Amino acid sequence: MRRIEWHDTIDSTMRRAAELAREGCPAGTVVAARMQTAGQGRLGRMWDSRPGGLYFTIVLRPRLEPAQVPLATLALGLAVADTLQTFAGVAVDLRWPNDVLIGDRKLAGILAQFQDGALLAGIGLNVNQREFPPELEPLATSLWRETGSEQNPEFLLPALARSIESHLNILETSGAAAILRLFESASSYVSGRRVTVELPAGSITGTTAGLTAEGFLLVRRDDGSLVTVTAGGVRPAG
Ligand code: BTN
Repeated sequence: MRRIEWHDTIDSTMRRAAELAREGCPAGTVVAARMQTAGQGRLGRMWDSRPGGLYFTIVLRPRLEPAQVPLATLALGLAVADTLQTFAGVAVDLRWPNDVLIGDRKLAGILAQFQDGALLAGIGLNVNQREFPPELEPLATSLWRETGSEQNPEFLLPALARSIESHLNILETSGAAAILRLFESASSYVSGRRVTVELPAGSITGTTAGLTAEGFLLVRRDDGSLVTVTAGGVRPAG
């Protein structure tokens, strides 16, 4: 039986899950919230965590080498995409490494952190939000906006948790090639897309050119050079 700790409001499910992981909680433990006051996003950003969304972190203890972390990140996006297709009937796109999109708008964000021997997978899913703050309005969407119907986050959560575990299991048992193949067919961003990538040293623009065996994104710049993107924010060039 999975332990799910539900909160009406919490600062961040990542913080609470890290605490439980340090205390040695079993793999599969979930911390979930209906609202967060200090939601953490990728690259040090804040995650808008107003009521209506589903915010959770699952504590995993996969048998993976540190070098497989980027592949685990891809597996998390695939897991969310699969569940949304099956349980909410929406077809999503994945933007490397694991943004979940409908068109160019973000439906869900995923934050993966390795801490104290555990993988903490944090998912923020826009479920029933009608509105977003003005700066997110052109960038975000929700299941309600896409389907016109309310979804029960408590129904989606166990399905998401199961799918995350089974996609990590694919990586553990079938290896990198299986996850890379699945990601390539689920994501329109893997090859042939004009993108701008924010890197610590500045941004680059080019055309995506596939994934490396480690799960990194290849981008061919207009001067012909090939850049391996190991971390960074990818967006359509424009
Ligand atoms: C992103 O920037 O795309 C990743 C966002 C991840 C947000 C989720 S919400 C649940 C969990 N708790 C947090 O504080 N962040 C993650």
